[in-house]
Amino acid sequence: MSSRTLNLIRCSDPAALGQAAADVVLAALAAAPEPVIGVATGSSPSPLYKALAASGADFSSAAWFALDEYVGLPPGHPESYAEVLRREIVEPLGLDPQRVHLPDPHRVDLKDAARRYERQIAAAGGIDLQILGLGRNGHLAFNEPGAPLDSRTRLETLTEDTRRANQRFFASLDDVPTHCLTQGLGTILEARHLLLIVRGAGKAEALARALTGPVGTDCPASVLQTHGHVTVLADDAAASLLS
Ligand code: GLP
Repeated sequence: MSSRTLNLIRCSDPAALGQAAADVVLAALAAAPEPVIGVATGSSPSPLYKALAASGADFSSAAWFALDEYVGLPPGHPESYAEVLRREIVEPLGLDPQRVHLPDPHRVDLKDAARRYERQIAAAGGIDLQILGLGRNGHLAFNEPGAPLDSRTRLETLTEDTRRANQRFFASLDDVPTHCLTQGLGTILEARHLLLIVRGAGKAEALARALTGPVGTDCPASVLQTHGHVTVLADDAAASLLS
């Protein structure tokens, strides 16, 4: 069997979790001349981005790749992940927007958009550290249950559960997009180090399934068990079902 490292770090409060995650990201930034960092949206990584902004570190050598993007929102929509990342990392960290990449949901040919994104990641040398959140249904990025474990960046249909989970960012459920472009599970697994950030009691069951349940498409995040280098940062509520 290949050697696998899975570090689970429990943090009692968001600031401590954010700092612990920032330490992992800063180490990755220091480890490569042109580091490539994969970034997640959602509430879970917010303390990390705040801690990175407070660190005063120089981020100019890095390239950044988003996990996913909604399809169907107009350009500049405040809840598009391009705008979320602008607010959460580009402005606070002083990043060059040209070095922050997302799959392009406005192309007529979305299959081509997905292929282009894969090529962009490859051209950057692959992702050194991929930051991840966890859906309460076990999704990683927008890879919903049933997604092939070796899937690549592609157009995906969002489940109603995920749309309801993300409804809090929109005026109504009808306003939540039904589709997205997402890195595939196979794409994510090619990152050299995975950093999963999980917060809140609502994620406890998904986290336990991801780390200790069977590996399979029912729980996309269970693929983490097959990766060689994973760091999991969880608050006490999210880690409550782990022994
Ligand atoms: C969204 C994102 C995922 C994220 C997940 C969890 O669906 N596309 O990448 O991991 O939500 O988000 P949160 O941290 O807000 O619970």
